[in-house]
Amino acid sequence: MPRLARRVLPVLLLLLPACDAEPPAAQRVAGGDAARGRTLVAQHGCGACHVVPGVAGATSWAGPPLHEWSRRGWLAGRFPNTPATLVAWLRDPQAMSPGSAMPDLGLAEDEARDIAAFLMTLGASRAEPVPAGMPLGPNAGGPRPDPRLRPRDG
Ligand code: HEC
Repeated sequence: MPRLARRVLPVLLLLLPACDAEPPAAQRVAGGDAARGRTLVAQHGCGACHVVPGVAGATSWAGPPLHEWSRRGWLAGRFPNTPATLVAWLRDPQAMSPGSAMPDLGLAEDEARDIAAFLMTLGASRAEPVPAGMPLGPNAGGPRPDPRLRPRDG
């Protein structure tokens, strides 16, 4: 194998779990651009409150972690997790669940759609029973042997 490939290949393999997998039909967000959604998640600071795999610095546990989002049955404990409810939630969480700790972020419809499309790719790979990959601490993004545990600081 050429030297460059030897260097680049492991990096590509490391990035694999963060790559967008195709969600099942019921979870596909019509007109949503998952790649743009991932960028928007970083831009809108969702990581200040959420763990979001594939988004650098999105490591906060203030709100619920969003890893394996496509497998989640319920949204905010109240709504079936479908593309439509997810987009509506992202646009206006306070209207859907008044008093929720998730603030309105002023997302436009297309932004909410793109973000929903991205979230629905998380955990969408049926090839792995438990998809690896969850950022755990500052700059500690990447696959971990057990994505359900995080180390305690003390
Ligand atoms: C200030 C903190 C904060 C920010 C910023 C924030 N959220 Fe939230 N989010 C929350 C909290 C708290 C909840 C739980 C709300 C509830 O259950 O009523 C939540 C719930 C959610 C849920 C449903 C989670 C579940 O387990 O049911 C999704 C999806 C979500 N947020 C996505 C986002 C996205 C995407 C962004 C950025 C565009 C974002 N959030 C920004 C605090 C935040």
